[in-house]
Amino acid sequence: MTNIHPVGVNDRHKTLFEGLWPLPYGVSYNSYIIDDEKVALVDTVEVDFFSQFIDNVRRVIGDRPIDYIIVNHMEPDHSGSLALIKKYYPDAKIVGNKKTFDMMRGYYNVGNEEDEIVEVANGDTLSLGTHELVFTMIPMVHWPETMVTLDVTEHVLFSGDAFGCFGALNGAFVDSEMNCDVYWNEMQRYYSNIVGKYGVPVQQALKKLAGVQIDYICPTHGPIWHEHIARVIGEYDRMSRYATEPGLVICYGSMYGNTERAAEKIASAASRAGVKNIVLHDVSRENHSFILSDIFKYSGLILGAPTYNNGIYPGMEMLLSELAGRCIKNHYLGIFGSFTWAGQAVKKISEWNEKHMKFELVGTPVEIKQSLSAETEAACEALGKAMAERLK
Ligand code: FEO
Repeated sequence: MTNIHPVGVNDRHKTLFEGLWPLPYGVSYNSYIIDDEKVALVDTVEVDFFSQFIDNVRRVIGDRPIDYIIVNHMEPDHSGSLALIKKYYPDAKIVGNKKTFDMMRGYYNVGNEEDEIVEVANGDTLSLGTHELVFTMIPMVHWPETMVTLDVTEHVLFSGDAFGCFGALNGAFVDSEMNCDVYWNEMQRYYSNIVGKYGVPVQQALKKLAGVQIDYICPTHGPIWHEHIARVIGEYDRMSRYATEPGLVICYGSMYGNTERAAEKIASAASRAGVKNIVLHDVSRENHSFILSDIFKYSGLILGAPTYNNGIYPGMEMLLSELAGRCIKNHYLGIFGSFTWAGQAVKKISEWNEKHMKFELVGTPVEIKQSLSAETEAACEALGKAMAERLK
């Protein structure tokens, strides 16, 4: 890439992205300068990092002005510095679409004057001198205003959140200059946590970009993709089709260990029946970020919970809500649960599936009264074995 410079920042401070999702490897907020006859800044960074951001910008352009600030996505991890950068560069014109400016005015009271904005629609172009830019709307990936900017001169796609991942950058910016191992799992987790509901819009965006020559993808989170472009597009295609691989996620809540023992029995039976990829998650102890990521990945899902307040154990209830909110498809479901005097968990998980998910039910749901008996232990084993058979 000639005259395209990363000026974003790494966030190694935040523990929970959106107040929800853990960041064991941090996260980057990427921004780029296209340094041409006209200078364009593509997206900004979260406002807490503004001083480092403006320093990065000035190291590239010195005292030259910014002519255009292109806003591909308005979520505040990228738009947060808009108001401040406009104070430093008051003559910069902000480039966005109709929906962009509505959000911008509401969030920052910026973009109110007609002569400070350039409103673009799908297919519109902007020349910076050598670099010719084309804007493509990709609504609901993952907000209504999202768009991407393609530099057709150098075949560089500024993709916003699309093709992004968790994980701060450790020195290098481009994938070919780093070990990318950590980013693949973090891409799966990022997608399932943040974008997962919007598989259909992601598929539509991928269709719009099909056939376009892209040599570099510059997302707003994670590495610049060059060497691994085919894999990255393939991963986003796979995830947005809700495609899975054979494997089993067993999620359970347990108050006194009885439901957990049932989960262990099911896992053991599935393993003996040949399933190699088995993950057990305690919905109370583990952040659901990691649970959702595994559920997106594997085709088998078995859910088990105690009855609690004549309903479902709270940690499981939250997970069910998170799954329904992501419109996940293409899974096989097994159900188990426990109770002391009145069973409700199995019934309510079944109702949730019928109402929201419509996963194929595998085996016979197991309902455990108080603790495992010889009969319910055998039922758990049968459930694990039935799931293993279905996954083959
Ligand atoms: Fe990284 Fe949707 O913001």
